[in-house]
Amino acid sequence: MDIRVLQPSDIPHVQLTNITNLPENYFLKYYLYHALSWPQLSYVAVDLSHTKPGEPPKIVGYVLAKMEEEPADGVQHGHITSLSVMRTHRRLGLAEKLMRQSQKAMVEAFAAKYVSLHVRVSNKAALHLYRDTLQFEVDKVEEKYYADGENAYSMRKDLSFLE
Ligand code: ACO
Repeated sequence: MDIRVLQPSDIPHVQLTNITNLPENYFLKYYLYHALSWPQLSYVAVDLSHTKPGEPPKIVGYVLAKMEEEPADGVQHGHITSLSVMRTHRRLGLAEKLMRQSQKAMVEAFAAKYVSLHVRVSNKAALHLYRDTLQFEVDKVEEKYYADGENAYSMRKDLSFLE
């Protein structure tokens, strides 16, 4: 398995992975906006054993990330827009690796002080990853954040330990 920076040519495959795994989906131009504005921050996991020569890479996971452009608190910070791993490739540590790569790049390339994200309050797997594995903390609950009315935890993680 290879973890590498997202390239614009990966975007249709990432979009397919996103649609397969999450109800929150985005237009192609939003992916491009991430890839062109903050090319260091988004990563893909590629299954090399299932990628044949001449075929497009088999993308089995991604993290789509950005810097907050006008932070309300005035503090430079990153944001995880979306993260997912295909069912066939879960519990292998891929999401943790994708997240750690992105966090490191946020600090190195943009001097981010912290990273934020939203997650469904019912999303046990993601909560385990964020809270227990990566040590994010719940900042607040955002009521009816999602289109279907579910609440979100707004979470954040201090990145000063990477400076
Ligand atoms: N239940 C409990 N714990 C879990 C589960 C689960 N279903 N899945 C993973 N974990 C734990 C792992 O055991 C591991 O814990 P450890 O550090 O104690 O060993 C930790 O979470 C990280 O595991 P990874 O193998 O790195 O996670 P994985 O590659 O399986 O991906 C993910 C986790 C991204 C949440 C995956 O289940 C997924 O794609 N789910 C659907 C999409 C999704 O919910 N994405 C997040 C939405 S929030 C957002 O996008 C900002």
